[in-house]
Amino acid sequence: MISKRIFAFIAAAWLSIGISAARPDEGMWLPMLLKQLNESEMQKKGMKLSAEDIYSVNQSSLKDAIVSFGGFCTGEMISPEGLLLTNHHCGYGQIQQHSSVENDYLTKGFWAMDKSQELPNPGLTATFIVRMEDVTKQILAGTDAAKTEAEREAIIQKNMATVGKAATAGTHYGAVIRPFFYGNEYYMYVTETFKDIRLVGAPPSSIGKFGGDTDNWMWPRHTGDFSLFRIYAGPNNEPAEYSPNNKPYKPKHHLPISLSGIKQNDFTMVFGFPGRTNEYLTSDAIEEIYNVSNPAKIKIRTTRLNVLDKDMKASDAVRIQYAAKHASIANAWKKWQGENRGLRKANTIEKKKELERQFANWINADAARKQQYGNLMAEFEKNYKALDGITISRDYIMEAANGVELIRYASGFAKLQQLIESKAPQAEINAEADKLERAAAGYFKDYNAPTDQKVFVALMGLYYNDLDKKLLPAAVRTAGEKNKGDFSKLASDIYSKTSLTSEAGVKKLLADVKAGKTNVLAKDPAFELANNINEHYRTQVLPTYTAVNDNLNLLYRTYMTGLRAMQQDKKFYPDANSTLRVAYGKVEPYEPLDGVTYNYYTTLEGIMEKAAMPGVEDYVIPEKLRELYEKKDYGPYGMNGEMPVAFISSNHTTGGNSGSPVINANGQLIGTNFDRNWEGTMSDIAYNPDQVRNISVDARYMLFIVDKFAGAGHLVKEMTLVTDDTSGLPQVDSRKKAEPAKELSEKEKRKAEKAAKKAKKKAKEAAEVN
Ligand code: ARG
Ligand code: GLU
Repeated sequence: MISKRIFAFIAAAWLSIGISAARPDEGMWLPMLLKQLNESEMQKKGMKLSAEDIYSVNQSSLKDAIVSFGGFCTGEMISPEGLLLTNHHCGYGQIQQHSSVENDYLTKGFWAMDKSQELPNPGLTATFIVRMEDVTKQILAGTDAAKTEAEREAIIQKNMATVGKAATAGTHYGAVIRPFFYGNEYYMYVTETFKDIRLVGAPPSSIGKFGGDTDNWMWPRHTGDFSLFRIYAGPNNEPAEYSPNNKPYKPKHHLPISLSGIKQNDFTMVFGFPGRTNEYLTSDAIEEIYNVSNPAKIKIRTTRLNVLDKDMKASDAVRIQYAAKHASIANAWKKWQGENRGLRKANTIEKKKELERQFANWINADAARKQQYGNLMAEFEKNYKALDGITISRDYIMEAANGVELIRYASGFAKLQQLIESKAPQAEINAEADKLERAAAGYFKDYNAPTDQKVFVALMGLYYNDLDKKLLPAAVRTAGEKNKGDFSKLASDIYSKTSLTSEAGVKKLLADVKAGKTNVLAKDPAFELANNINEHYRTQVLPTYTAVNDNLNLLYRTYMTGLRAMQQDKKFYPDANSTLRVAYGKVEPYEPLDGVTYNYYTTLEGIMEKAAMPGVEDYVIPEKLRELYEKKDYGPYGMNGEMPVAFISSNHTTGGNSGSPVINANGQLIGTNFDRNWEGTMSDIAYNPDQVRNISVDARYMLFIVDKFAGAGHLVKEMTLVTDDTSGLPQVDSRKKAEPAKELSEKEKRKAEKAAKKAKKKAKEAAEVN
């Protein structure tokens, strides 16, 4: 028998491994802290670069090739002429904008055959990070005196404005300052934003969106999810508004693209702008998400999607109108299901509870800690209790009430009504009316009132039947009581009388408002209902919701301090907040189910297998792709007779990382991130290294599509194609300063020259195919 002492020792060792050792591959790290926190571990995993190669203020580094694409995705520079690579689903809005029935770029793809054909996109931006800085001290200056969270926040806002202004004075730069670790730390990102971003190329949706919603969030995957843009700059290579005189931007660095491909266990790094994660939630918070929020939101969206599916099947016009809406509703819907499955499978709630027990023990072991943290867990509990009824109310308002397009649209008229009621000058009222009128055409192009009316009946029925009656807005409760939860009568009343279901109706209503009629909007039944729901939200939900969240923010700030004091050996990374981060891991398969292993890459073969399945619209492929497959015409991009398409690796990513470069040990581009596996979507809350994989389109598939499929080889010629060990680092004079020249022996010199020649030749051959 194991003696008690040895057992205790083993148990303690286990605990310390489980809790204090940074789990491999987890984390979204700050570029400026890599040297201190991650460099040695990254190199142990095979990385040949230094932290300074990735992020440097003094010389160009990999970060100079990375942009925030439009603020919602990531993009990377892949040529000295400002060519930008991102996902097809990131450029989707732009591709759609330029599409018409005659030039349907969504269906057929788009390729600019020279720069004059590249298409401008007003409003689209690409933002580089010039440098980042820890500004915690400046931002928190004076906050000790604050008596409330609101006061503290006011001081912080003021400090942010001052610090940001000082950092950018006299430059064309911007400054973004964000809280990290719930406001324990603040970092500033100095940014440079380009505004002339042109569409260069996009594959047809049958490649760029291959698999559609059927395959979304899933592995194995075969999507060529990429599109190409180009950054244009003014005379000094600086940002400028669109002008035909602008020149392609010359980036400080562009990523060379590896033709050597990937192997299992290869080092990978994802560099980009992850949006939002919640890795430090308490068990109470996760229980709420797992038991209350996710199931409610999934149920509501299932109901909504069922209605849309039926109508989209019955009519081509509705199918086109609702394609993008359906995709976006289904995207989160599917993710939440994966998230709950993952939380259950990893036993996350129990693990969090165990951590909280340890935290309690740690507090109780020390008087000073008791003083500082004594009430913390009880306060958490109290605040989460206060959210009882509030969370669910909010979920139903966001998902059920606002899932009805008419209600959400009507809410957009609230400001107009306010102006009318407050007797604002007619000019101001007219300006707001004009704004609404301009937006109407776009809105109604993709709106079908009969479909929305069915959604109304279904979702309002859920709203009434699922919630405790005292949580309902008066209008919903009364209507539900009258017809025992059946909302079809109310729906036909509202939809037949409102002015807000057609562009003509809206125009007429706005004309009346402009003519001085003060009561037309207030009397519109859709507006009335929306108003009642919003009023309920503002008075019954929002006050508690805001107050509790303010409290929680303070509690989490304290909790983070405590956790970091308790686990001093653990490396902590802050939650994603749309700032530039580095995640690293390796190319790796996984086991989604007992007895099942998923390989780490897919090939064109799999596209043909899926295309052979009868009747799946998401798997229809272009004939040209089949021809290339049959001829095995892969050029230098295939390998061993196969054409690689996508791969997975264990990098911690989330929404916003779409379009992020996946970079190998040498700093070369091997792929573009576009999704996560379904089993791993819980990584926004708790990372499970066994199950979490990010999904990327293989860079070689991108090259193959551009070159062989689209015949746009001129774009490939712009890029820098490399093999194996060629350095992927910026090749500029400024680097030489930093790396003291080392005298090579004659033999070494000859060897290096030979290798360089070979790589150059290979790259040239590759670029000249076609
Ligand atoms: N799941 C990916 C993301 O969250 C891709 C979404 C777009 N693709 C789609 N089939 N809806 O953005
Ligand atoms: N598709 C997501 C995006 O648009 C990335 C997938 C994820 O959430 O990891 O950013």
